[in-house]
Parts: sequence; structure tokens; C-alpha cells
Amino acid sequence: MKILFVCLGNICRSPMAEYILKRKCKEKNLDWEIASAGTENYHVGKSADERGIRTAMKYGTDMKAHRAKQLTAKDFDYYDFIFSMATDVTHEIAFIAHSETRMKKVKLFMDELFPGKLQSVPDPWYGDEKDFIPVYELVNHVCEIISEKKQF
Ligand code: 4NP
Repeated sequence: MKILFVCLGNICRSPMAEYILKRKCKEKNLDWEIASAGTENYHVGKSADERGIRTAMKYGTDMKAHRAKQLTAKDFDYYDFIFSMATDVTHEIAFIAHSETRMKKVKLFMDELFPGKLQSVPDPWYGDEKDFIPVYELVNHVCEIISEKKQF
């Protein structure tokens, strides 16, 4: 199973999902390949947001190795599933995909918890460090559901 998480900047929400799910896969002996990307190029090559790194570390998730990258058309061939962290992100993904076939691999992350409700993971980028806590907990909850899923 190859999974890609996508947000806008690839420094807050999708790296959190990547490193949380990587950790769960290790704990559960799941041989999955997990990565993340952003639809925008603003932060390419940069580390995850410091506030997110510190928050994740408090829960035992180490995101220090992360470097941001931008989603490319090739990712739609390589990955089995692409999880969009928010509805506005899905619009940007569709712009890069430029094809309905490619979009068949794209699922809304929050649909794993609230199917069909069109919910998004709140973007903590504009907030304070404390805003990363509920985001971490929500992403952790949904990643737990994904890691327990037998069929996609
Ligand atoms: P992310 O958060 O998409 O969760 O990584 C953002 C990070 C940076 C920006 C927007 C969202 N930005 O506009 O630079």
C-alpha cells in the first residue's frame, strides 16, 4: 500500500499525517509506504513548521526529518491513494491532476471519520502553537482509523 497525504504547504497538516501513520505502521508491522506533499511550492525543501514539530514531539512523533515537496502529476501513478487534508486542497489537487482518472485515487482524509460530511482538517498555520494540539489529536484519530482499515 502506498499512501500520499496532501495539504497546501506540506509543512503542517500532511507531514503530521505522514509521520503519525509511519509510526503506527511500524508499531503494527504494516509494510506501507507513506509520504506527503503540498499543492503549493512556497516551502519546498523546508522543514515542517517548528510549532508542529514541537507539538508532535510531545506525543512521541518525530517529524524532524521532513522536507517539504510539491505534488506532481507522477504522484498519481505511483501512489495507490492520495488523501487530501481539506476540501480547498482537493480543488488544488484537481488542478494539478488535470484528469478525472487521476482524481479517482484522491480521497478526503476526514471522510474516514465523517463520511460524506465534506469536513477539513483545520489549518493551524495561521494560528498559535496551541492550535496544533487539536490538529495533532484529530490527525492521530483519523490515522488510527486508516491503520486499522483492512480494505480501501
Ligand atoms: P499546510 O499549512 O497546508 O497544512 O502545510 C500551510 C502552510 C503554509 C501556508 C498555508 C498553509 N502558506 O500560505 O504559506
